[in-house]
Amino acid sequence: MVIKPRLKGGLALTNHPIGAKEFVKRQIDYVKSQDKYEGPKKVLIIGSSSGYGLATRISLAFGAGAETIGVAFEKGVEGKRAGSAGWWNTIAFNEAAEKEGLVSKNFIGDAFSMEMKDDVIKFIKEEFGGKIDLLIYSLASAVRTDPIDGVTYRSALKSTTKDITGPTINFEKEVMEETTMGVATPDEIKSTVKVMGGEDWKLWIEALDKGGVLSEGFKTVAYSYLGPKVTYGIYKEGTIGAAKRDLEHTSDVLNDFLKEKYNGEAYVSLSKALMTKASAVIPIFPLYAALLYKVMKEKGIHEGTIEQKHRLLTQMVYGNNPVIDEERRLRPDNWEMREDVQAEVEALWDKVTPDNFKEISDYAGAREEFMQLNGFDFDNVDYDADVDLDELAKLKP
Ligand code: NAI
Ligand code: NA
Repeated sequence: MVIKPRLKGGLALTNHPIGAKEFVKRQIDYVKSQDKYEGPKKVLIIGSSSGYGLATRISLAFGAGAETIGVAFEKGVEGKRAGSAGWWNTIAFNEAAEKEGLVSKNFIGDAFSMEMKDDVIKFIKEEFGGKIDLLIYSLASAVRTDPIDGVTYRSALKSTTKDITGPTINFEKEVMEETTMGVATPDEIKSTVKVMGGEDWKLWIEALDKGGVLSEGFKTVAYSYLGPKVTYGIYKEGTIGAAKRDLEHTSDVLNDFLKEKYNGEAYVSLSKALMTKASAVIPIFPLYAALLYKVMKEKGIHEGTIEQKHRLLTQMVYGNNPVIDEERRLRPDNWEMREDVQAEVEALWDKVTPDNFKEISDYAGAREEFMQLNGFDFDNVDYDADVDLDELAKLKP
């Protein structure tokens, strides 16, 4: 089968398994081109198969020699359907990790369930040396079933103040168009906090603690976003912002608990805006990202997911140059948030039109990043070649 890209707005309907290998390889190559660092040896990553969670796993494995457990929600080959991008990313990661003699174990399923937590804890106890040094919480999900009351909550990407209308990029049609983000009901705000807030992170820590699998000095980091003024309406003051503030509050609760019992730490890290499966579907966000890339690349301070996470880990979580704000949040988004960067983004934001957006933004770069998430647009992958799905279907993460 020959696999071609098919998009629907900010959603990729297809992905390329061979391209996924290249996607992972390039991130590994970056880490290997950097100095090795002293970090954790045993790591659990929730949301390990794509975006920031995958980049974190790659940095830890190939930069610090960590053995990793990944939890992700992905699909394998089903008939003519080639499986999800995160499925192939995980297989590619496994192959590379195994070559270096690094344990890489994967649990594919629902991280929100208690069953998943029990399975992971059992594995840590019986086959992973008994303890973990670090848990990374990098989930992005639209739905969560609360394991305690059994209710299924759906997150909504909505405003909490008023209708927000603004421009965005439609990668399918390659146009800049107006989108409107409607106002959430109180129920929708509550549901988004249920899905993307800190409750599940806390349940993981509680279960791991009860299971006796946290090491002395254990750390945990969850990924969040704040963003600048131009995105406040859709992010900071949106439903997702409400959920992220809940996540941040949870980090303080967890930090007190871990400090006391394990001399440990819990942090939230505010990451830079990047194109990922999760962010590409947020209204307005893709245009902001394309303008931001333009400015940051010109200034020589642009980072992709791997550079961003590698800096977080080597400089901040396991290094001596943490950037921390007054709310105790790690700030690898510090370059994105620089005044000169935001002033230039705002100036471009005022100038951008459907006619000039391809020239004045880094549209090409943002689109390439989006395509590469799904294994497309790599110059060294042959996209006309036949992909043997029957053969690939034998591989499991
Ligand atoms: P992503 O969509 O690339 O990754 C999400 C991960 O969560 C995948 O590994 C997926 O398999 C997993 N997942 C989803 N539902 C699951 C479930 N029920 N059980 C187990 N695994 C599940 O998203 P991305 O962008 O890497 O997001 C990760 C975190 O980083 C999120 O908290 C996001 O808000 C944050 N972040 C993202 C930024 C961006 O610009 N993309 C900026 C700052 C923070
Ligand atoms: Na992730």
